[in-house]
Amino acid sequence: VISAKTMLYGILGDPVEHSLSPVMQNAAFQDTGIDAVYLAFCVNKAALQGAMAGIRGLGIGGVNVTIPHKMAVMKYLDEVDSQAKLVGAVNTVRYEEGRLVGFNTDGLGAIEALKEAGKGLNQEQVVLIGAGGAARAISHSLVLEGSNLTILNRNIERAQSLVDDLGEKLGSNVKCLNLTHENLEETLGEADFLINATSVGMAPEIDETPVEKKLINSHLTVFDIVYNPLETRLLREAKENGAKVVDGLGMLVHQGAAAFELWTGHEPPVEVMRKAALERLKEGRNDENRGRNSPRGHNHR
Ligand SMILES: NC(=O)c1ccc[n+]([C@@H]2O[C@H](COP(=O)([O-])OP(=O)(O)OC[C@H]3O[C@@H](n4cnc5c(N)ncnc54)[C@H](OP(=O)(O)O)[C@@H]3O)[C@@H](O)[C@H]2O)c1
Repeated sequence: VISAKTMLYGILGDPVEHSLSPVMQNAAFQDTGIDAVYLAFCVNKAALQGAMAGIRGLGIGGVNVTIPHKMAVMKYLDEVDSQAKLVGAVNTVRYEEGRLVGFNTDGLGAIEALKEAGKGLNQEQVVLIGAGGAARAISHSLVLEGSNLTILNRNIERAQSLVDDLGEKLGSNVKCLNLTHENLEETLGEADFLINATSVGMAPEIDETPVEKKLINSHLTVFDIVYNPLETRLLREAKENGAKVVDGLGMLVHQGAAAFELWTGHEPPVEVMRKAALERLKEGRNDENRGRNSPRGHNHR
């Protein structure tokens, strides 16, 4: 029951209405008996400053931060932890003793998802596609895990600036290349892991893939961080070629679990959170199908 003692948490983003974080975090609060609720707040860029002041004013326990605020939010915080500083982006904020502190749990979420699949990363050859927010977080964590990393991105300047950053902050020697067929062919021949950290293949563009099927060998582990759909074209084709596959749900769950632990100090009920997110994903798919089949055509929001 919600009472006068119930603590509030939430997510700030725009758009945010499809976020799986509310079902995941509320399931975790219920399972652990923690007296708290988690809501989604659609906050546009102009409203971010006010929203952060609102956390202080209302004594909200903490928030997740998503597109487009992961970098912009940093200027409203009192402190940013070392990992988030390294990445240059924050996805989790904790409010305690009058101070807003920022963290980034995305990279840890990705590493946990790969470890869960029985995959260590030390000394492994990893081809990472993408240089956006998620790729930034994952690449920093991979370097810290001791992986040998090559980054491919469509926009090479963006990849180069990430590589420069990794070199400067971690002293790493990461290569970057244009996202082309030839470069994929060359790097994947030697690789142990292929990670897609672009949005290619995400609904509604589910027929797209960042890597042609014929380039995927059976000795690869292919990790796609896109979780909608869970089985992307990339993962389906990788499986058909005999590669090991890891979908985006594990990363989603573990980044949320790490946030839960930062806020509550309580061990996160990971399996409960996974089940809640998975059920919501399945319902979402049913909703989409219903929309498509409905006699009136489109659903209006
Ligand atoms: N599983 C999880 O927990 C989790 C967590 C975070 C994000 N994600 C997913 O990861 C994806 C990326 O998120 P983000 O926050 O990193 O987004 P972002 O910062 O906007 O970065 C997007 C990335 O995708 C690339 N890209 C987009 N369209 C492309 C295309 N047509 N061809 C080639 N590359 C393309 C961009 O390349 P350019 O630089 O060339 O534009 C960039 O590297 C999203 O689908 C998101 O849902 C999953």
